[in-house]
Amino acid sequence: MSARATQLKGKILKKGNLPAHVAIIMDGNGRWAKKRGLPRTAGHKAGVKTVKRIVKAAGDLGISVLTLFTFSQENWKRPKSEVSAIMKLLYETTKRELNELDKNNVRLITTGRIEKFSPRRRQILEEAMERTKDNTGLILNLALNYGGRTEILDAVKRIARDVKTGKLSLDQLTEEKFSGYLYTKDLPDPDLLIRTSGEMRISNFLLWQTSYTELYVTDVLWPSFSAVDFYEAIWDYQNRERRFGRV
Ligand code: IPE
Ligand code: IPE
Ligand code: MG
Repeated sequence: MSARATQLKGKILKKGNLPAHVAIIMDGNGRWAKKRGLPRTAGHKAGVKTVKRIVKAAGDLGISVLTLFTFSQENWKRPKSEVSAIMKLLYETTKRELNELDKNNVRLITTGRIEKFSPRRRQILEEAMERTKDNTGLILNLALNYGGRTEILDAVKRIARDVKTGKLSLDQLTEEKFSGYLYTKDLPDPDLLIRTSGEMRISNFLLWQTSYTELYVTDVLWPSFSAVDFYEAIWDYQNRERRFGRV
């Protein structure tokens, strides 16, 4: 680790109020590649290296949950060749890194409609989840085929069904109960949302869960996002005042 990284990490750990759940919109792979005259897929490949780096950094800090926006529902609209390249990277990386993740006590989970993926490939993800399910370190949550509005609609449909069958009465429906119908039902809401590459938008990510999340946008493109950049985001968060509507 660089001297700067060690120093920042020390400051963060001393300060103590770590975000329990950090979510990241990993953006800018395409721009990173374009700047270098490379195909977009080269950017995604480089982005995988950043994932490894940040998973390690988050685990070392003692963060509980790291959610990575890996593939959105809207990303299916990209050229077929790019979609296949991203999927291939996802499965290959999951297979290749599984031992390392397991060794580092990481538990892998997914959020989103992975039932849309081909059975053969879904199996790779399911095996990885099964293998790491008892790990007690970082929860690495990959948002895959995820769309925030669809998630809310899915919740509403299930709620309507439960009301119809008498399992739930509408008067009992609280915010907490509603959260229990979301894909993320077992996770705390994100404390910090980082977006790389400077775009000031939420892109249909965790719409319900981010109502009081602290936002951090950096111009750094995802493939260039370093452990120090990650630490800087955490440090920034630690020095904010969260008010939740109070004074
Ligand atoms: C993020 O990088 C990766 C995915 C959305 C899968 P992009 O591919 O969106 O990169 P830009 O935004 O075109 O630079
Ligand atoms: C958001 O990035 C989705 C992921 C990071 C997986 P996009 O690059 O798809 O978002 P937009 O299209 O710029 O809003
Ligand atoms: Mg993008």
